[in-house]
This record gives sequence, structure tokens and C-alpha cells, in this order.
Amino acid sequence: MISKRSIERVIETAKVEEVIGNFVNLKRRGVNLIGLCPFHDEKTPSFTVSPAKNIYKCFGCGKGGNAVSFVMEHEGYGYIEAIKFLAQMYHIELEEIEMTGEQKEAEAKRDSLFIINEWAKNRFAKNLFNTQHGVNIGLAYFKERGFRESIIKKFDLGFASADSRDIFNAAKSEGYNIDFLKELGLVSDKELDFFRNRVMFTIHNLTGKAIGFAGRIMGDNPKMPKYINSPESEIYNKRKILYGLYFAKNEIRKQNHCILVEGYTDVLSLFQSGIENVVASSGTSLTTDQIRLIKRYTDTIKILYDGDAAGINAALRGMDMILAQNMIVKLVILPEKHDPDSYIKEVGPSAFMQYISENEKDFILFKTNLLLKEASGDPVKKAYILKDIVATLAKVPDALNRAMYIKECSNLLDVGEKIINAEINKIIKKEIREKNQRRIRNEQVDSTLELVDDQSKVVADSQAFLVQSDEYQEMEVVRVLMDKGHTYYDENNNRLVVDFILDEVMQILDYFDNHIYKKIILFVKNLREKGKIPERNDFFNADEEIKEKYFELIMTPYEYADWQSKGMELQTQKHPDKNQFNEANQAVWRLQYKKLNKLIKYNQENIIKNSDNPEEYKTLIKVHIKLLKERKNLATLLNIVI
Ligand code: CTP
Ligand code: MN
Repeated sequence: MISKRSIERVIETAKVEEVIGNFVNLKRRGVNLIGLCPFHDEKTPSFTVSPAKNIYKCFGCGKGGNAVSFVMEHEGYGYIEAIKFLAQMYHIELEEIEMTGEQKEAEAKRDSLFIINEWAKNRFAKNLFNTQHGVNIGLAYFKERGFRESIIKKFDLGFASADSRDIFNAAKSEGYNIDFLKELGLVSDKELDFFRNRVMFTIHNLTGKAIGFAGRIMGDNPKMPKYINSPESEIYNKRKILYGLYFAKNEIRKQNHCILVEGYTDVLSLFQSGIENVVASSGTSLTTDQIRLIKRYTDTIKILYDGDAAGINAALRGMDMILAQNMIVKLVILPEKHDPDSYIKEVGPSAFMQYISENEKDFILFKTNLLLKEASGDPVKKAYILKDIVATLAKVPDALNRAMYIKECSNLLDVGEKIINAEINKIIKKEIREKNQRRIRNEQVDSTLELVDDQSKVVADSQAFLVQSDEYQEMEVVRVLMDKGHTYYDENNNRLVVDFILDEVMQILDYFDNHIYKKIILFVKNLREKGKIPERNDFFNADEEIKEKYFELIMTPYEYADWQSKGMELQTQKHPDKNQFNEANQAVWRLQYKKLNKLIKYNQENIIKNSDNPEEYKTLIKVHIKLLKERKNLATLLNIVI
């Protein structure tokens, strides 16, 4: 195992612009470097490298990261491979250290599981191609369905013998650990093979390793399950896997969209017809983890589901989840009685592609039309439709995207944009309220609009809820925390910005509206408790949600322009990088001010409720006075009149 220390040395040494410079032609623009993004097709450069922050971000496809993640992404390396690559580039010697017994064991077990699956995969393939039964029955079945040998081999298809101890006996005689085979679901507790007399599909992870299998009966038999699947194991988490993604990922990036189908055979058929950007959710309903996997490669998903009611319903369900990830969803409903596999076989690849491009609908048009058809002029039903559509629209996090959809919907439904907007705000408000058990019951539009600066006013117009909730202020605090946390708050270098913010914010953390911002603050607090100063790499190595927020908040394409357009801090500070004291103060005070106002309102309600309880009443009044005083202090600091 490589020592942590030398990994850290590599990360510290690697300069993102030098590493990327090996692969991409970069030109200087202002403080950043830009070039053509290697991860998606583009003609004008939107791939931005920030030497100061040591990170990169493409504003076309959204990819971003540091030197390590670039090498991983670009070269398809794992983490350790990428570290080794960089170590070589910078002539850093990597120190090897011994793993603890426990680490070794865990590592060894995972390795064994992979090895056994690899072995089973090969055995299934051998059965298919080299046994009489396999050739006559399994291979014949695949061929009859039109799968060519090249695709059968590429996707590691195979055949499970009818012999109920084929796998078990072979594994035993070759000395494999039967407990591990049980864990992988290859043999049962009774030591019988799990897959018997079925054609086999191998499920690969993102690096192409076999992590599970699915076995299909040949032909139809209503008494037997059509497919049986490997159980979850240490190396197979169904919610985080998409069938075919290993083979599709490059093409998804190139085409800048991903085609999502339901079945294994759909993936195979499309792939062998030259449509390679295709993956399947494989029976399970689509999960957010799966959507996020796709999001690594593209922002657009085309859902190609069967034309039956079940298919349409599944598509509708998937849609809201995709929207919530700020991705674009298109829908193609195939002619009735067809799935992608049968349809492409009937009409051929070029007619199939033509069908997609002629029939792909933006989700909102699709859903609205579908519902309108159902309502057919009934005004009561139309009101329900509006509610339904609005619920979907409320899932779109990005204000601009949402505004666009609202416009379309307004036209289709013949309902004013204002009304739709108001309905959406209602839902969003309700969701925020439900999320926070400890929140004030009757949230009213906040009376603190005077606090909102120019920038958030723009946001406020399109996103009224941001003003009602405190997400904007929470975001500002988190942004400063992530961007400037490691710098000094005071001139004497006694206190870090991170400590100032944590001290000021912890007490109101329970009142946060946005759970991600809350999570980030807790994450940073945890780091501080371990004596660490949060740095860029801590956010990189955090979970996806935190990492994504980090990019969103720290690397915006408008960094400079936006900052200057605000124009306010410019008078007191010469350069934004030296402005942490003001930035931290402003962010924290504004947030506190907003929370304080809510607290005051909440307390006032309590006072009214307790008017017949003199003891309680007195205490609450005292609290009220104290809160008002605090608000006055903050108002003075913020230089506003209340
Ligand atoms: N599925 C499953 N178990 C079943 C039925 C279906 O896991 N008993 C999953 C499989 O991933 C399958 C997908 O749901 O690929 C779609 O099911 P279906 O359309 O019935 O199967 P196809 O893959 O289209 O298979 P075929 O073309 O052979 O009918
Ligand atoms: Mn199907």
C-alpha cells in the first residue's frame, strides 16, 4: 500500500495546469487558462483551469476536479493508478507501507470476490461456446434473437449448465472458497448452482470487472421467472450500477446524451446496431445514484421505454428524479407492443434513429399533452393536471431552466405564468417546511427584503422561495467557508475564517433551510475537531453532494465579473482575495439577521399563544426583548435601518 504521506506529497506537488497541459492545449485568459474540453465535443473552449485554485472545470459539460481526478477521468485510471502516474511525472518516489491485518483481509476478500466472478464469467462463456449443450441451446438462442458473436463476446454473455452442480464442482476442484461463491450468489446454501440452464448476462462495473450476473430462461415459461439476478454483495450494489455503462461511457460523452432503456437485450440490440450510448436500469426502478452516474458523462438522458402503460409510468417516475438532478430529460415512447430490441430488429438502425429524432419529446410537452388528452376538456381534471405539472416543475432546481419550462407550460395549458409560478412557490415552500420539523409553522414572506442585495434580488424575482427561505444567505456563508475558510480572519493571524464562521453559525444550524449547506458545515466542523484546516482537497474527497456544491459555489464562470458588478466591496478592498474579513462578516451577519427575524416571529406567536400563562408569558417577553436587542446590534453592523 502506498503511504498516505506520499499520496499527499503527490497531490501537493501536482500542478493542475501542468498535468492538463500534457493532454490539452491551454491558453491563458485572465487569471485562468482555457482550452477545448477533452470530455465533450466543442468548438469554442469552455474548459477552464484555475492555477490559483489548482482545479479545472468545464462550463460546457460540467466536468471538474483536480489533477488527480483529471488523470482518472481522462486516462480511465483508478485513484492509485492516477497517483502513480503523477508521481512518475513529478519524479516523486512513492513510499510503500504495510497494511494492517484487517485492511489486508478486507482487501483480500474483495479481490477474491472479483477473481471468483471473473472465473465464473469465463466458465459461463466456455459453457456457451465449448459445450455441446451450450452451443446447441444457449448460443442457438442468442443467434436466433439476432445477436452476433462479436457482441456476445464483448458483453461476456454465457451459458449456465443444466447440471445443478456445474459451478459448485468446478469451483471446488479448482480450490475456490465456497463461502465466497455463496456470498456472490453463485451457489446456494445447499451447495447447488443458482443459475441453471439459463443464458447468462454479465454485469460489469465502471472498470469492466464482473460484479454480478443475470440469467434468462430460453423461451417463455410463465411459471418461471424470466430473469434471475445475482444478489447484492460487497462488490455489487444494484442501486449504483447501470447495465452497459462500462461499454457506453465514451460514446455517451461523445454524443453528449445517454439513451436509457429497460432491458439487457435492449442494450445489446442497440449496441450492435451502432447505437453505443445506451444503458439499462435493469428492472429496478431508476435510482438517484444511477442518474448521477450518467451525469458524470452527460446532462441529457433520453428515456426509451416500452409503449405500454407500465413503460410510460416508469418513464414518468424516472423523469422527476432526473429533473431533480438538474438534467435534461427527453422521452421517446415506442410504438405499442415494442421494446427497443424488437423495434430496432423490425425497422433497422437508420429507421430506428429516425423514429427517435422525430418522436423525442421534452418531458414537459410529453407529460402535459398526455394529461391533457386524459382530461379532454374537463375543467376539474384540468385543475388536477396543473397541480401535477406544477409538482414536476417544482423539482427543477435551476431557476433559469425552470423559467423556461414554466413558459412552455403556460402556453400548453393556457394558464398564466404568474399563476404557475405562484403554485410552484407554494410547493417549494411546503417542502422546505416539511423538511424542517423544528421550523416555524406559518412561514410568511419575510419582512427582511431590505437586506437583499442586488444580486439576490435578481434571484428573488425568479425564485421567490429563495427569499422566503434563507437559502441564499446560507449559501453565502458556505461559499465563504469553502473559499476562504483556511485564510486568516484577523490581521494578527490569530483566528481562521473557518473558526469565526463555525463559532457564529453552529447555534443556528438547526434552523438551516438547505440540508446540503447544513451538511457542509457539519463536515467542516468535524474536520476542525480533528485539528485539520479544511482545504480544497478535503472538499474533493468528500461525498458527491459536497463535491458538487464546491464546484458550483467556488468555480463560477463569472468569478471576477460578478464580483465587480456588485461593486460594493470594491471601495473598501482592493482585491477580492484580501476581502475575507468583510466577506465572512457580511455573510454571517446577514444569515444571522434572517434567522433572528424568524425567531422573533416565532417567539411572537408563542407570546400570543401563552397570553393566559403569566409565567411563560413573562419569560417569552424577556426573550423577545433580548432578541430585539440582538437584531438591533446586527442591524447596526450591517448598516441598515429597521
Ligand atoms: N427483469 C428482471 N427480472 C425479471 C424480469 C425482468 O430482472 N423477472 C429486468 C431485466 O433487467 C430485464 C428488464 O427487467 O432486462 C426488462 O424486462 P423485460 O422487458 O421483460 O425483459 P427484456 O430484457 O426485454 O428481455 P426479452 O427481450 O428477452 O424479453
Ligand atoms: Mn423488454
